[in-house]
Amino acid sequence: MDKLVIEGGKPLSGTIRIHGAKNAALPIMAAAILADGIVQLDNVPKLLDIEVMLNILRRLGCRASHDGHTVTIDNTSVHSSHVPEDLMRQMRSSIFLMGPLLARYKEVHIYQPGGCAIGERKIDLHLRGLQALGAALVHEGNRITCKAEQLIGTEVHLDFPSVGATENIMMAAVLAEGTTVLTNAAREPEIVDLQRFLNAMGANIIGAGTDTITIEGVRELKGCRYEIIPDRIVAGTLMIAAAATRGAVTLTNAHAGHLTALIHILRRAGVQIATSDGIINVTCFGRPKAVERIVTSPYPAFPTDLQSQLMVLLSLADGVSVMKETIFEGRFKHVDELGRMGADIRVDLSSAFVRGVPRMYGTTVEATDLRAGAALVIAGLASQGHTIIEQVHHIDRGYDHIENMFRKLGAKIERYTPVPKLDFANG
Ligand code: EPZ
Repeated sequence: MDKLVIEGGKPLSGTIRIHGAKNAALPIMAAAILADGIVQLDNVPKLLDIEVMLNILRRLGCRASHDGHTVTIDNTSVHSSHVPEDLMRQMRSSIFLMGPLLARYKEVHIYQPGGCAIGERKIDLHLRGLQALGAALVHEGNRITCKAEQLIGTEVHLDFPSVGATENIMMAAVLAEGTTVLTNAAREPEIVDLQRFLNAMGANIIGAGTDTITIEGVRELKGCRYEIIPDRIVAGTLMIAAAATRGAVTLTNAHAGHLTALIHILRRAGVQIATSDGIINVTCFGRPKAVERIVTSPYPAFPTDLQSQLMVLLSLADGVSVMKETIFEGRFKHVDELGRMGADIRVDLSSAFVRGVPRMYGTTVEATDLRAGAALVIAGLASQGHTIIEQVHHIDRGYDHIENMFRKLGAKIERYTPVPKLDFANG
């Protein structure tokens, strides 16, 4: 298992280009199955989750490749709609395949994705939406078979604006007979990207980015070439790291409009942010100020995917901040590790009370999940001394060689891949 070794205390400086968005690319790669033809996707980052999705598509019979940052998917020889259990377990986002496989091949077999480090990760809203469109579900243990001779457009209301459920229902409805109106839909930029991609293949969808999305069923979709939007969570992670190290960083290929909530919070903390077309400049002179109350909520509010990273900045701020996590019940696993680096954080149910300390100290810590791992990298960069981060594969799921990103900004950070011990004694 790889490790990252960081020598902290050095302000970040320089310019970095933001890579494509994992959470836009994954549903769009699944949606490629809907097209009769070849789909090419540009600006797709080299991430573990992307590789897992490519492997699932290949197991279904697609020809799928990732050359440079372009993914090519040819599904003219798809021979299965059975999502392999071992790959479902590797990545819960494989649930995105339900809608497209059901819409195109009339049936899909998946496995309950199960929880992960950050929470239970239920899929009831996905299943209820597909049933509303006419799908019949059969549960056999943890396997779910979903069938529908023809999906029929209808009104679907989500009890909670679930990102994945919104995307799955959009992808199922796009080949349904008639119109589907999805209310209380999630409004994330990745959903707008999915709508743009589906419409580029010949779909007829309006409303993504608002809480009501209308999908006119069409008979077929054609392949296309499409460019994935930049990753707002990677951009936000780098902005917070620039502030936590009291540096000066410029992000390019970055949509400030996707990060409004974070920008307002960082400005309240005394960080200077300047934005122009595709550019975000972050500068932090001196110690940041505490932000009295932050609540994670669905877009366009402050995103849960930046909660652990921001907690590092608040841990070094002047004063007490309160962070409330409302999306995932298990998303405070970074708190103990930050405490071992000198942070002063007390968790009470879904709120974290963060009393800023003047400095934190490097030590050996363990990444428990993707964004908690990113938070530990920021903590290592902002701390005095050396930090070793273990279980780095969690971070590689969502950041394309995070050490290279930060090295480009002047950080002293190296990746170590342990050499497997060969036991010659036992032959
Ligand atoms: C997407 O996950 C993202 N993943 C997550 O990013 C992100 O944190 C999340 O949206 C919220 O923004 C991808 O896009 C691949 P949800 P998703 O459905 O779709 C509950 C990262 O770090 N819920 O909006 O799984 C669920 O338990 C990842 O990049 C149900 O109860 O999120 C959770 O508490 C982590 N029933 C809440 O809704 C359902 O059927 C939000 O889940 C579905 C969800």
